[in-house]
Amino acid sequence: MISRDTIDDIKNRIDIVDVVGDFVTLKRSGQNYKALSPFTNEKTASFYVVPSKGIFKDFSSGKGGDGITFVMEHEGMSYLEALRYLARKYGVEIKEDEHEVTAEYTERDSLYILMNYAKEYYKHLLVHSDEGQSIGLTYFRERGFNDRIIDKFDLGYALNEWDGLKRKALSEGYSEIMLEKAGLVVRKDETRSYDRFRGRVIFPVHNLAGKVIAFGARILTKEKDQPKYINSPETDIYHKSNVLYGLFQAKNAIRREGFAYLVEGYTDVLSMHLSDIDNVVASSGTALTEEQIKLMRRFTNDVTVLFDGDEAGIKAALRGIDLVLKGGLNVRVVLLPDGDDPDSFSRKQGSTALKEYLKAHTQDFISFKIDLYAKDARDPVRKAEAIRDIITSISLIPDAIKRSVYIQETSQLLKMDESVLVTELNKIVITERRKSEQSQTGSRPDVPAPVEQFPAAVDAILQQTGTDLGSIVQLQERESIRLLLNYAENNYDEERLVDFMVAELEDVVFTNPLYAEIYEHFQKGVREGITVDTFYFMEHGSEAVKKEVAALTTPRYEASKHWSDKYHIYFPTEKEVLHDMAYTNVLRLKFRVIQKMTDDNLQQMKNAANEEDLERFFTIHEQLKGAEKELAGMLGIVVPK
Ligand code: CTP
Ligand code: MN
Repeated sequence: MISRDTIDDIKNRIDIVDVVGDFVTLKRSGQNYKALSPFTNEKTASFYVVPSKGIFKDFSSGKGGDGITFVMEHEGMSYLEALRYLARKYGVEIKEDEHEVTAEYTERDSLYILMNYAKEYYKHLLVHSDEGQSIGLTYFRERGFNDRIIDKFDLGYALNEWDGLKRKALSEGYSEIMLEKAGLVVRKDETRSYDRFRGRVIFPVHNLAGKVIAFGARILTKEKDQPKYINSPETDIYHKSNVLYGLFQAKNAIRREGFAYLVEGYTDVLSMHLSDIDNVVASSGTALTEEQIKLMRRFTNDVTVLFDGDEAGIKAALRGIDLVLKGGLNVRVVLLPDGDDPDSFSRKQGSTALKEYLKAHTQDFISFKIDLYAKDARDPVRKAEAIRDIITSISLIPDAIKRSVYIQETSQLLKMDESVLVTELNKIVITERRKSEQSQTGSRPDVPAPVEQFPAAVDAILQQTGTDLGSIVQLQERESIRLLLNYAENNYDEERLVDFMVAELEDVVFTNPLYAEIYEHFQKGVREGITVDTFYFMEHGSEAVKKEVAALTTPRYEASKHWSDKYHIYFPTEKEVLHDMAYTNVLRLKFRVIQKMTDDNLQQMKNAANEEDLERFFTIHEQLKGAEKELAGMLGIVVPK
């Protein structure tokens, strides 16, 4: 067993930010850190690390605890495994009685140990066997893989014999059953079993903590009926769809560079590293899975897909783009010249040329698609197809603001009216929604809401009746408070709605004292990490506040089911369009506040005592008008001069 002293020693050295930071990209948030939950598929960060207390808390899964708990939960380790992992990380030596500890090992432990054993075995053979040197090492050398790369990726060689690994492992006390469970040995029948990897170079696959969880093995001869790669099967520690090859070696570079390259295979990853481009991962020959995207999101939101410029590569790129967009990531594209992958390109032209090529040819996905169709853009049918295709990709983006930015870009690039594109987009979105509603009960959260379904009806009425600006501002304040009271804890991109609104409204002073009072509680809640909701006010509010809160949280009228059935009209609920509502609300409030300030400033201008003051008011007026115009533009309102 590990002694109490050693455990205390480990605990004392744990830096929770450092421990969690090895697996999750943390963003500073005041004294604490925030991130997307590594345990769920959330879109808004609700995972917190509190360094002062040495703890983490994940609101979306409910998990929480200290650094040891985190490693256990995240890596699926036992308490002992986690302690060992942390001991290694912090250089604490563990003194223990071998036998007792062996009994504590779980099956997963055994798999990790065995995979590590096999990795060392293959590594050793690459350099220290004749066959490994003359075949394996020679092959790597021919491809330009130097010792640094071989070492960084733990490359190895499996001899061309039936059961070299099996025999050696058995002789050292490992069990045959575990060898099979690890996927290293394949059972043929009751009496015969043999090594899975034979006569191939070995590419180990690492998990985020750097442990080997699988192998890919490439053939070097030209035997026809043999697959080019043999990969480890799924095991208790290896789930192919959850793994990105190279992420362990890339994670720091991805954080540093702020984006990741996505390539196809093992050798592409290695070639990029050879060219000192370390922020690269591979999906390993399959279409990107949702889990892989989720994994990526923990390190960056920006992905550049890198594909061969041939037809298959373009197809793969197109599929990759849509998957990445759907996962809520930003995507850019680089196509290599026809027939080249990063590996062949850098070997032909060198790493400087590769770097320069990547820089010069990275495009956002819209211009990529436009270029792709540009060849036959004269053909109106093809052009319509292209537009539809681009809009379909845009429709996959979960975030409404991003969607509208891309729509704007498309409209500029194609010289088409933005509203035409929005209409087209909404058609697609609504069709998708219907489809998903028919195919399954309950709404599908990944189908985005149509853009701008809420006309500024209230504004229009108010403008017509000429109500004074002061009360318009207050009405808008009321709407902000109503959204906060009803949806404060709902998701808004990476954060909660309340975080978004409080940050956005930083420079806005509420004029209505009651709303100001309520708003202050929300501000305080964000500052101090307290959840402020209706219940909160029932305890903390004055009578007037309680009454207002009750009034504002009574559900509004919602369109009847009857209507949507009868006329096939789809009415989104408030919650579904919350993102757009919150965004517009913030803009409207600012817009009104600015108008009110302009009005007040004009009054002062009238009463200016001297030219100097007048000059000052003029400057203010111009600034306010500028801000008003900008906000109006964002809201799609035309401002009278
Ligand atoms: N792959 C696989 N099984 C195969 C073929 C491919 O698992 N039979 C996966 C591997 O992860 C491989 C990736 O798909 O790395 C890309 O395939 P390919 O381009 O054929 O292999 P490379 O690794 O690029 O090998 P090379 O550069 O030697 O052609
Ligand atoms: Mn390839």
